Amino acid sequence: MAVNDNRRVIEVADPTALAAAAAEHVLARTAANRGRVAICLTGGSSPKHLYQLLATESYRNRLPWHRVHWFIGDERFVPADDPLHNMGMARATFLDRCAPPENIHPIPTATADPADPDGGAALYQRELQSFYGADTLDSARPLFDLVLMGVGPDGHTASLFPGDPALDETAHWVVGVPRANIAPFVPRVTLTLPVLASCREMLFEVAGTDKRAILTRVLAGENVPANRARSTSETVWLVDRAAIPENFGGR
Ligand code: 6PG
Repeated sequence: MAVNDNRRVIEVADPTALAAAAAEHVLARTAANRGRVAICLTGGSSPKHLYQLLATESYRNRLPWHRVHWFIGDERFVPADDPLHNMGMARATFLDRCAPPENIHPIPTATADPADPDGGAALYQRELQSFYGADTLDSARPLFDLVLMGVGPDGHTASLFPGDPALDETAHWVVGVPRANIAPFVPRVTLTLPVLASCREMLFEVAGTDKRAILTRVLAGENVPANRARSTSETVWLVDRAAIPENFGGR
């Protein structure tokens, strides 16, 4: 385990250990808040093991589902039952079996107009602000207890791609992304960095040799979107052995 700014990198053996460690973070963050808990999920393939684990009996019985609310950090303009729909994947993998429907908060890309991703973004911004009870974020009262994240080969995270002006957005909580940098090349909606940062913990899950190159760049401090995504409190990168750069000395 190593410390860099407010970022900790924790190495685990493999994807199975990664999912188990991530599930413990979910349980710990949920236990730490005795009121209404807000968790922001992520898409992509990395969190799938975790989602499957949360639906198993031992985890299912340990989570206070009635008081946990589930959001999503970004969404793609694909039908809700498309395997590439981020919240659709989370619903199919665990939420629909475990969470009360009113606690699931999808980004409305399935019904919004793909030609107007900002329209879908505005709807979700309103939903987040109404859940939070204010239109501006208070650093003493984070929006989320936990934000899950992943990193793409180009360094993107959520749907914040390198060079996109969305990275510098400070006014909007949620924005439309007309062009993705990576497949699927469909318009998207993404939460912005200050909103993702408004959490007690941001947790990245990174596994596999395919991720080693981008992780090397991230840990070298390169200015890629994933490096700009930090919680105002604690940021943790859970990384499996296959993804750890060869010369990783603990940063
Ligand atoms: C998305 C994701 C995205 C993802 C990374 C990593 O909608 O595409 O939210 O940011 O986390 O692309 O994806 P993998 O887990 O599939 O490698």
